[in-house]
Amino acid sequence: MPHYNLCLLGYGNVGRNLVKLLYDKYFDLRDKHDIEFSITGIATRRIGWLASPDGFDYEDLITDKPLVNIDPAPTNVHEWLKAARTDAMFEITSLNPQTGQPAIDHCVAALEHGAHAITANKGTVVHGYHMLRDLARSQGKRFLFESTVADGMPVFSLFRDVLPVARLRQFDGLLNGTTGVILSEIAAGKSMDEAIQSAQALGIAETDPSADIDGWDAAVKVIALATVLMDVPLKLSDVQVEGIRNLTAEQIQAARRDSKPYKLVSRVTRLGGVDEQRIIATVRPEQVPIESAMGAVGPETMLINFQMDVIPNLVIMEDNAGPYTTAYGLLCDFITAVSGVQERQIRQRPTLLDDRL
Ligand SMILES: NC(=O)c1ccc[n+]([C@@H]2O[C@H](COP(=O)([O-])OP(=O)(O)OC[C@H]3O[C@@H](n4cnc5c(N)ncnc54)[C@H](OP(=O)(O)O)[C@@H]3O)[C@@H](O)[C@H]2O)c1
Repeated sequence: MPHYNLCLLGYGNVGRNLVKLLYDKYFDLRDKHDIEFSITGIATRRIGWLASPDGFDYEDLITDKPLVNIDPAPTNVHEWLKAARTDAMFEITSLNPQTGQPAIDHCVAALEHGAHAITANKGTVVHGYHMLRDLARSQGKRFLFESTVADGMPVFSLFRDVLPVARLRQFDGLLNGTTGVILSEIAAGKSMDEAIQSAQALGIAETDPSADIDGWDAAVKVIALATVLMDVPLKLSDVQVEGIRNLTAEQIQAARRDSKPYKLVSRVTRLGGVDEQRIIATVRPEQVPIESAMGAVGPETMLINFQMDVIPNLVIMEDNAGPYTTAYGLLCDFITAVSGVQERQIRQRPTLLDDRL
């Protein structure tokens, strides 16, 4: 049975949940997918580059015991990937929205080493998608990133594996749970500051929630979706972004009373047919009818409505997601990568056919 050495670069919430999930699904992986694995590398800035070619002990990993490193210890990503005999690397370091670094360099190193690169880090898709995809192809490996948008909700794999030849005209939806919770708390009578504090107490909002409130978290997800699913590479400056900061409590509460609550809506629309490269991308607060899909869902729900040439409206939504859900997206990518599912090579269609459509 094939045995894979797995390395985690970044060992925070998602990394710890991934280790737990891998062992929760140990027998399913072995008995249903013929996959056995060891975790042979763990790395963060604080703990350094740890490698154990025979595999770290599960108990040591989940009880946070100090892990024993090989001697001499690896001093950089290349030495670490080699020492850990890496077959697949999970890039789960913090997001750098400006450049996607150093996560992109980590993925390059993994692919050049001959390992699959699997990530939850949006920066790799937003700033490095085409390069990493092409490098993976040239290496006969996979660059996969299901968990970068909407935790583990199957979005990229849906289009890749389940919806062949579907072309996307538009998508819109709710891509940021934190603003959903804040808007809901304000609608129920709180001030903006009180609502932010509630979201922080629930562990939903970060200490500095400005990337959520000002719409930039959703904008980065919009870029990742448009780049991969519509083949329209966008920059942050291409997205018209307006957060929820300028809405008053009175506006939010009145909208709820009128059954048209405010939601932070992300939307990308092609200006012409399904091959049109010109698009409009927006992230902004919009009033949505309470009986619509976006209006009816709970505050934390992530939802995307895809409009395609072949399916007019397909809505996919996810509730109660967390780092274990994100870890599940990474696990699915790992299974895809090692199951030998070949990436479809997208070929340009003949111009004549394009013109007729
Ligand atoms: N939490 C979720 O449910 C979720 C959902 C979707 C996507 N994501 C994405 O998944 C990634 C991980 O999220 P998380 O919640 O696990 O974050 P986290 O708890 O803050 O953990 C981040 C980890 O990355 C390490 N790290 C950060 N920068 C590094 C660098 N330059 N080199 C090496 N290690 C580095 C940190 O350790 P040191 O500080 O010691 O370096 C830490 O171990 C992020 O990109 C996030 O946006 C998370």
